[in-house]
Amino acid sequence: MVTIPKGTKDVLPSDSYRFQYVEQKAGAVAARYAFREVRTPTFEHTELFCRGVGDTTDIVNKEMYTFLDKGDRSITLKPEGTAGVARLFIENGLQNSALPAKLYYITPAFRYERPQAGRLREFHQFGVEFFGSASPDADAEVILLADDFLKDLGIEDVELNLNSIGCKHCRPKYNEALRDYFRPHLGELCETCRTRFEKNPLRMLDCKETRCHEIAANAPLITDYLCEECKEHFETVKELLREAGVSFRLNPNIVRGLDYYSKTVFEFVSTAIGAQGTVLGGGRYDTLIEHLGGNPTPAVGFAAGIERLILLMQNTGIPFGEEPAVTVYLAGMDEASRKKAFALCAALRKAGVAADTDHMNRSLKAQFKYAGKTGAKFVATIGSNELEHGFMTVKNMTSSASENVSFENAVDYFTKGV
Ligand code: HAM
Repeated sequence: MVTIPKGTKDVLPSDSYRFQYVEQKAGAVAARYAFREVRTPTFEHTELFCRGVGDTTDIVNKEMYTFLDKGDRSITLKPEGTAGVARLFIENGLQNSALPAKLYYITPAFRYERPQAGRLREFHQFGVEFFGSASPDADAEVILLADDFLKDLGIEDVELNLNSIGCKHCRPKYNEALRDYFRPHLGELCETCRTRFEKNPLRMLDCKETRCHEIAANAPLITDYLCEECKEHFETVKELLREAGVSFRLNPNIVRGLDYYSKTVFEFVSTAIGAQGTVLGGGRYDTLIEHLGGNPTPAVGFAAGIERLILLMQNTGIPFGEEPAVTVYLAGMDEASRKKAFALCAALRKAGVAADTDHMNRSLKAQFKYAGKTGAKFVATIGSNELEHGFMTVKNMTSSASENVSFENAVDYFTKGV
């Protein structure tokens, strides 16, 4: 038998309603904040991610699903949502229409990572991107949206980690300070860090190798190097969050795993799902649009990992609403009553009632068993006596109470009575 590829997951009916629940909350909170949905292709030209996500990142260097298509084009399955949405924004002329453009998406994403709890090779993100405003209240707005989203899901067990990683004016000075700090340790650092030392020293702070991590712990802090504008921007973001009652922890080690960020960066982290505790991450990226060939347009956004949110909710006992099940299962006992059950089932469905009936020619006992297993709320039985007198026996599967309901009243009973 051919089995599922490593790092991917089947979603069974007993799980899919959890995805639907989270996605429905995502759409609802996005609508409340006036964000509208966009969808971009599952694959893009590889160059978009090399330029967009950045060629010093693990994502671009090690994790992309890249292949040549039959026309010899280099294609990549999207490893995240932002670069595609940025391309959409430029290519469809949204930069020339009403700004700010407030967009959201729910998308699969693909990264060739070592699978573990909360880390998959195909996963799903809910993301928002806010294009056109350089103001700190745009940063605060997307963080508030993220906070509301998590609260709407009932998630309390997360901490918002906040940092500023400066801009093109202050970062070069900080990069030099980092190089000065790391230079005497170069021999002890991993190969990736040695490459990053030249290309993008900020990313050295994010290395998971034990020795690199130990050395990075005493590195200079970006917050001591911010220019006046970045400092003021960050102060206002913090003030707006405090005013909105959103608590956060200042964490200078949050540098994010993608190259496009400047100024505000943030992550919502949980301790309830193991090593991969970041359920949502984002930040400001004021140069990406220009870098991808658009007009200079400031932007800020985030993405949340849907599987991680579900894992966190399951681990902390948060409910996902009611598991979907039919309202009524119609059980026929002989050929004629099965026909009646089939016809009533069709009438109920047309009236908007979720209904089901037997398609396996099973005994009444087996039909009851199936209805019980699939969670039907009522079972309506029709036998020759019921058929003759025009009614069905309706059993409430929770209370076990039964009552007779005439065929004429069946639709009313299930649309109004229960
Ligand atoms: P990211 O931090 O790479 O940011 O991913 C966002 C979220 O996706 C993570 O916090 C995590 O919950 C989830 N995630 C990432 N990798 C995996 C994986 N292998 N398995 C399961 N879940 C995963 C971005 O992708 C940025 N595009 C976010 C953003 C939007 N920044 C600005 N706008």
